[in-house]
Amino acid sequence: MGESDIPSFSVREARPEDLNEVININLMCLREHYPDYFWRDHLQLWGKAFLVAELNGKVVGYVMTRVERSIGYVSRFFPKKVGHIVSIAVLPEFRKRGIATALMKEAIKRLKEIYGVKEVYLEVRISNEPAIKLYEKLGFQKVRRLKYYYLDGEDAWVMAKEV
Ligand code: ACO
Ligand code: ZN
Repeated sequence: MGESDIPSFSVREARPEDLNEVININLMCLREHYPDYFWRDHLQLWGKAFLVAELNGKVVGYVMTRVERSIGYVSRFFPKKVGHIVSIAVLPEFRKRGIATALMKEAIKRLKEIYGVKEVYLEVRISNEPAIKLYEKLGFQKVRRLKYYYLDGEDAWVMAKEV
């Protein structure tokens, strides 16, 4: 089989019809879950930066974001718009082929160009090495440790970068 036979994925804005698949991916991949209205509200309010990765017509990954106003975590001088990466996941059988990287890069570009954010940040379990590596590769730095952030008592790293 040649390189050209490997089906490649595409990244696009999520649509309301995608939400069931997105929620299922979240249930399979993460311990942090949200009520349906939470997903719908993020899609409605910040839909230009709520993206899915599609492969052969199937949604295999997503990134959900929102825009907040705060002094941020990097240059903490004045209030500004910051992008919050709320949740990202890729189905296990489609990992390690750049899908999360592509979702993150496109979401960050859109948060900056469409929503005018100056910084992006996220929380991640301190044990989640794959995700921490992904974020470090994208230029995020650990800026704060949140004790007992998760319901099971694990700490979170806040990771952030200016954009
Ligand atoms: N071990 C070590 N490093 C890894 C791994 C791994 N298993 N997976 C990814 N990485 C790092 C590598 O540095 C990789 O670069 P490389 O391929 O050049 O080595 C880089 O991340 C990018 O990898 P991608 O292929 O773009 O990432 P992938 O599509 O596999 O998705 C993700 C990564 C989203 C973390 C996936 O493993 C996943 O869905 N995990 C479960 C859900 C999760 O933990 N989500 C993040 C929670 S935090 C939050 O949502 C804000
Ligand atoms: Zn968060």
